[in-house]
Amino acid sequence: MRRKVIAGNWKMNMLPNETLKFIEDLAPLVKDTKNEVILCVPFTDLFYALLAAQGTNIKIGAQNMHFEKNGAYTGEVSPDMLKSINVEYVIIGHSERRQYFNETDETVNKKIKAAFEVGLKPIVCVGETLEEREAGKAEEIITTQTKLALEGLSNEQVENTIIAYEPIWAIGTGKTATNDDANNAIKSIREKIVEIYGQNTANRVIIQYGGSVKSTNSKELFSMSDIDGGLVGGASLKAEEFSKIVD
Ligand code: PGA
Repeated sequence: MRRKVIAGNWKMNMLPNETLKFIEDLAPLVKDTKNEVILCVPFTDLFYALLAAQGTNIKIGAQNMHFEKNGAYTGEVSPDMLKSINVEYVIIGHSERRQYFNETDETVNKKIKAAFEVGLKPIVCVGETLEEREAGKAEEIITTQTKLALEGLSNEQVENTIIAYEPIWAIGTGKTATNDDANNAIKSIREKIVEIYGQNTANRVIIQYGGSVKSTNSKELFSMSDIDGGLVGGASLKAEEFSKIVD
């Protein structure tokens, strides 16, 4: 049985003092869960989040990083920089980064490899636009994104990659994929992994659903056969609401 992983993606929200308060509030609410709890916070909150999460079962992730080790890349943060302060996870290839910051399947693949090189665990996002879904291309788009993201990784690395299936039309819109649509999309991603890496590896990969997850729809979504938890944006900004989703 795969574990369930619930990750919050705060995006560009929350200041250090809000981060400290949030984790202080969240920690007692999720301390008995058997699910894995991750908060992916802005760079400026990382240090505070890591301090506040010490001694709790809350793990901390970043939302992006560069694939280069170091050098003249003004404004960028390297994998080693994250690792050096004990960040454990990093979101890679979120659709907002693909859309607004020119991330491509190629940079996503480079970043995943760079993450593994320093021992960071990637949470890799894939997902189709509404036009792509309406044109019947959703499955092709997400399986191709998955294949290109994972290219050149070992089986062990693939098993340690979390994939988040996030249909772009469901992000921040209040529209969620139906339970069956989300589950089928995730099944098609898993089938693609079977094709390339074999059944054993595919069985071990955590594949989350993301896109307007909230406490009122999370139970049904996460009970589906292939959905191993969620990547949660808006609803991860309130400790109580997020803890209900974790539950
Ligand atoms: P949302 O965002 O839950 O606010 O739709 C999800 C995400 O973008 O990761």
